Amino acid sequence: MHAIGVDIGGTKIAVGVVDDEGRIVEKTRRATQPEDAASIDAAIADAVAELAERHEFHHVGLAAAGFVSSDRRRVLFAPNIAWREYPLAERVEALIGREDLHVVVENDANAAGWGEYRYGAGREVRDMVMLTIGTGLGAAIISEGQLVRGAYGFAAELGHVRVQPGGHPCGCGHRGCWEQYASGSALVREARRAARERPVRAAGLLALAGGDPASITGPDVTRAAADGDELGIELLAELGEWIGAGCASLAAVLDPESFVVGGGVIAAGDLMLAPARTSYSENLPALGHRPVAPIVAAAMGNDAGIVGAAALAREAPHTQD
Ligand code: BGC
Ligand code: NA
Ligand code: ZN
Repeated sequence: MHAIGVDIGGTKIAVGVVDDEGRIVEKTRRATQPEDAASIDAAIADAVAELAERHEFHHVGLAAAGFVSSDRRRVLFAPNIAWREYPLAERVEALIGREDLHVVVENDANAAGWGEYRYGAGREVRDMVMLTIGTGLGAAIISEGQLVRGAYGFAAELGHVRVQPGGHPCGCGHRGCWEQYASGSALVREARRAARERPVRAAGLLALAGGDPASITGPDVTRAAADGDELGIELLAELGEWIGAGCASLAAVLDPESFVVGGGVIAAGDLMLAPARTSYSENLPALGHRPVAPIVAAAMGNDAGIVGAAALAREAPHTQD
């Protein structure tokens, strides 16, 4: 039986029909306003209705970029979207208005991690950490084959682990969170700053953005770097170094068999991953006396959230009837 997976990010939602083998059979997307929660509900309902014209399904998994309640119905807080104690599943169910449809909410990175674990880069391992690098920095921890949710549903909020005391302010209200150094937003912030402070060095980047530092996007940085632009390469390397150093600390806690990295920024590929691997080894406790877990790109690219959300919705205990 097919199921629907919805990946709700800071700026867009991607919706897919997923089969039993974790393959997406059809996909659609909608733009969203992160500051307008109701517009997100409407966009989801609209996309689901569109797909229901051609597909049969009874389960919808919503991968939400925030702190999801342990009953998997509500988003209690989100740093980059206007959700506060928000009854997301209930709102979307009401808009869709179908009695035979079960809606389950998952943290977006947990969903992506589960997708990669079941069908992607984590298929061969039992212990993995997934990082999704996009607007925010999301994470999933799979330990001994189980998704680690914690007591209240909020485990693996690794983007809000402090890496820099007194550092950049974060959407969560604190300072120095890992997300402020290792996310698409951090990349863009640094690229724009470089373009303002060192316009000559940033000439390549600025050319891609029509000359305006404030118009520089993450994909601009990746494109510049792929074309050999020095600043672009340096910006992605810096982001990679923050990822790698953070993974070394995580290895001290979790000792995973592999790290899987996805999210929009993974389009940069080895421009980011190679520096991440170097910095991982350099910071790894007991290097030389232990296996060095690989840091690999997500096999499903940016589709992992859709696939994982659909799988988790289908597998949800209260819907197995
Ligand atoms: C949020 C997480 C989310 C991540 C990626 C973070 O800012 O706290 O819940 O998984 O961004 O979207
Ligand atoms: Na998570
Ligand atoms: Zn934070």
